[in-house]
Amino acid sequence: MPHQPIHAQINPPARLLMGPGPISADPRVLRAMSAQLVGQYDPAMSAYMVETMALYREVFRTANQHTLLVDGTSRAGIEAALVSLLEPGDRVLVPVFGRFGHLLVEIAERCGAEVHTVAVPWGEVVDAEQVERAVVAVRPKVLAVVQGDTSTTMCQPLADLGEVCRRHGVLFYCDATASLGGNAFEADAWGLDIATAGLQKCLGGPSGSAPITISPRAAEVIEGRRHVEAGLTEESDEPRGTRIASNYFDLAMVMDYWGPRRLNHHTEATTMLYGARECARLLVEEGLDQAVERHRLHGTAMLAGVAGLGLGVFGDPAHKMNNVVAVEIPGSLGAAGGERVRAALLADFGIEIGTSFGPLHGRVWRIGTMGHNARRDAVLTTLAALEQVMRAEGVPVTAGGGVGAAREVYQGVAA
Ligand SMILES: Cc1ncc(COP(=O)(O)O)c(C=O)c1O
Repeated sequence: MPHQPIHAQINPPARLLMGPGPISADPRVLRAMSAQLVGQYDPAMSAYMVETMALYREVFRTANQHTLLVDGTSRAGIEAALVSLLEPGDRVLVPVFGRFGHLLVEIAERCGAEVHTVAVPWGEVVDAEQVERAVVAVRPKVLAVVQGDTSTTMCQPLADLGEVCRRHGVLFYCDATASLGGNAFEADAWGLDIATAGLQKCLGGPSGSAPITISPRAAEVIEGRRHVEAGLTEESDEPRGTRIASNYFDLAMVMDYWGPRRLNHHTEATTMLYGARECARLLVEEGLDQAVERHRLHGTAMLAGVAGLGLGVFGDPAHKMNNVVAVEIPGSLGAAGGERVRAALLADFGIEIGTSFGPLHGRVWRIGTMGHNARRDAVLTTLAALEQVMRAEGVPVTAGGGVGAAREVYQGVAA
């Protein structure tokens, strides 16, 4: 038998991930994830789960008992929320202002829902009055909205939408994957019924776990569809309502798994739980307001820096997310030149910045300042490298303009 080649141990190249996510994980999170496993019903594991729930209540700013993790990347959280709330034929309203609004539409359609949208051009956010008019016309069961849409960098204000939902008895779902931890988020004060997130943006972890919080009102709707798997308990749980169309994302069962019954469902992804718990610990230790302020500071410095290089910025500045900026690729470079700049940043500096989707593809780069990389040195290094790479491409950038403008933002702020 010929020898199979044995590949080398994983040893990734040094990278500074300055795109729209994933970003370089906080070393503390990576250390937590290297801890040994315990069994999923070990008292230590149950304690970690309870602690993780308490930590994420603080991160989401909620008193919701049902605040837990869905195993899988952020879209696992989105699917769990929508498939557990929506029955075939239910009406859902989705404001669409970027790629991830389209994702909510697509997932809701797969749930068999009747999907209605309010669309605005990319680079804008929706207006609460516009949404209220649509709510009155459609009478949806659920309003599903993205908070920070990384495809456009816009951050949708949510408080007014929460009031609209309350006035009209609509359940309010939000995808806060890209914004949580780096932009203000108030699950209870803004009247959210379900919010979901991921670790790989402002939470400073790897993708693979989706924190979720579920209000008592939403939990009641979900528990009204409770069908416990056969063979789990001796007493028979009376099935209720229409069975949720996914087993893995059945939040009624996931809530029972995380709740006092600890009813078996999936095998908890222990290593991801360690990581998610550490992400929340980092944020709670720093303070949520302080973390948002850190993202605002470094986002402002990056924005000033790209402007200082003479580059334009896409989208309504009044609604830009703190943690990502869409930088217009100079016309002289074109889409191909834009890709050459990204490739040279990676090859020569080990820095990754993002490309973009849909109508913005080839028109903007997306540069993130989030989680572990919302730091002064990461911002200044990226700007210095971008200047050099663009100069090599023949773009007449202002010498030192990027780093200089960013440093002005940092003036007087302790490093
Ligand atoms: C706003 C938003 N929603 C959902 C997702 C999907 O997340 P994941 O790739 O972790 O499933 C992303 C990823 O970039 C995102 O930015």
